[in-house]
Amino acid sequence: MGAAQEKEAVLACSKEDLIAVGKKLINIKGREILLFHYKGEFTAMDQFCFHQGGPLIAGDIEEMGKYNCIVCPWHNYGLCLTSGEAIYGYTGVDPPVYKSLGKKQRMHQVHERDGNLYVILNTDPEKHESDYYYTEKYQSVREENEAREWALQKRLGLLSKR
Ligand code: FES
Repeated sequence: MGAAQEKEAVLACSKEDLIAVGKKLINIKGREILLFHYKGEFTAMDQFCFHQGGPLIAGDIEEMGKYNCIVCPWHNYGLCLTSGEAIYGYTGVDPPVYKSLGKKQRMHQVHERDGNLYVILNTDPEKHESDYYYTEKYQSVREENEAREWALQKRLGLLSKR
């Protein structure tokens, strides 16, 4: 890490803490970022899925062909942990076929030092579809989504008591 990067780097957690849980949500300058450990590699990407803003923290890590992905819990696109590519699969064929839709999710840099992990926000001007979920325009939509999710959970809770 160079001196300029050193200034931008934010301490996220210890390496051991992340290894224990596999993924961890952090917030840097108001941006929610998901940090991963998978097969010895540490990576980070935007927390909200490029497709419709699904919360990737609630997804599982799966191998989709040659891609190691976090699978979005809303519509099952995979997001490659190292490239941010969106992956979809035809699983009705044997073997399943996985294709990339291209890089959709903004990735951030992770550095390891003295047993700790540091994240540097990727402020590259290149647009990524996941950027939309960090705009003011999306905030009101997000609040509506969260209210709808809360109402659904409440309803399911009531149904399970019957
Ligand atoms: S919101 Fe993630 S796949 Fe649709």
